[in-house]
Amino acid sequence: MQNFTFYSPTYFVFGKDTENQAGEYVKKFGGSKVLIHYGGGSVVKWGLLDRVKASLDKESIPYVLLGGVKPNPRSGLVYEGIELCKKENVDFILAVGGGSTIDSSKAIAAGTVYDGDFWDFYQGKTITEALPVGTILTIAAAGSEGSPDSVITKEDGMIKRGASGDAIRPKFSILNPALTQTLPAYQSAAGITDIMAHLYERYLTNTAEVEVTDRLIEALLLTMKHEGPRVIEDPNNYEARANIMWAGMMAHNNSCGVGRTQDWNSHNIEHELSALYDCAHGAGLAVTMPAVFTYVMKHDVMRFAQVATRVWGCQMDFTNPEVTAKAGIEALRNFLISIGMPKNFEELGAKKEDIPKLVDVLCNGDGRPGSISGFVTLSEDDCTKIYELMI
Ligand code: NZQ
Ligand code: ZN
Repeated sequence: MQNFTFYSPTYFVFGKDTENQAGEYVKKFGGSKVLIHYGGGSVVKWGLLDRVKASLDKESIPYVLLGGVKPNPRSGLVYEGIELCKKENVDFILAVGGGSTIDSSKAIAAGTVYDGDFWDFYQGKTITEALPVGTILTIAAAGSEGSPDSVITKEDGMIKRGASGDAIRPKFSILNPALTQTLPAYQSAAGITDIMAHLYERYLTNTAEVEVTDRLIEALLLTMKHEGPRVIEDPNNYEARANIMWAGMMAHNNSCGVGRTQDWNSHNIEHELSALYDCAHGAGLAVTMPAVFTYVMKHDVMRFAQVATRVWGCQMDFTNPEVTAKAGIEALRNFLISIGMPKNFEELGAKKEDIPKLVDVLCNGDGRPGSISGFVTLSEDDCTKIYELMI
């Protein structure tokens, strides 16, 4: 196991009706003027925004509102949010929504206290200072409620990039699984896929003997395999929603990733798809993961065979472990299709003729060195072949 530090100070509040405590927690973490940031309308439609406002009113905490975050959140609204926070002397940001709203909130939080262009952070500068952020999560997916990361798309060039820093880890996150019961089945499935991707990206490691994190990841993958189909069948299944919501947090606050190298090639390859086609990140991952895994499998066949037997129940073929490894990738693909995710470029709305453009931005955009690195290093040629596998 490699040396590591782990700092995850988010205060989690989990369970039914917990959104009504938002005001209390804003106060606890020092907020006296709040920006409530939200998305395209689901929080208005289902009455959540009114409950959150009432909770702040109860604590006599003033607030301003900024809605309109789109899935795959854009830089334009971040600039708007930064201006608003400066003008209104906001000292706390409350994100009410999914990963996109939380990520946009984190970007505003960092940009408000920074002299330069907030995009600097999305080009590699670590975020060391930010306004405090709290979240009320409405979809189990991105894990941003417990992560130090934010992913934003710059409209100029539609470049989607991530930024990181402990300063943007939420001070508190309110997780009420009942809020996710209004999700359309497709969004639930995209969230399930993203959570599984966060687990696979950590499972694919070049560090030997990391049994404890291997086993944690396998447990969470087994949970997703069990609970995923249950929420697709019955969106109101609170217990299944609850298990998925906590699994989503654990999958991405890095408790499963410490002490080991991680992959993230699937995420990088997918981010170009959601940037160009505006597809759901999880849907993009459903098409990306089986292609990437098939392409890189030979780098460590036993790792793929291990997850195949331990999670997908495949029989180990000791004479030819590649057979087992392939069966595991096939089982993952079939699972994702069974919950309603797309299986190829066409179903995702992607186009073969765009592959050179996708590869160029992926490998060369924003000063990248002509390749991407993770479990294996992938050249432009490798990435071209991986996108072709998705057709
Ligand atoms: O905008 P509204 O109207 O709220 O609708 C949203 C949106 O259309 C809807 N939705 C959310 N909760 C709902 C609901 N509809 C009904 N009922 C509810 N309870 O779902 C749609 C998707 O929302 P979004 O926030 O985009 O989903 P998600 O949480 O999957 O976030 C995706 C973004 O997170 C990034 C992705 O790249 C993508 O941009 N990621 C962020 C990470 C991080 N910060 O650590 C890591 C991830 O790997 C990921 O890259
Ligand atoms: Zn993800």
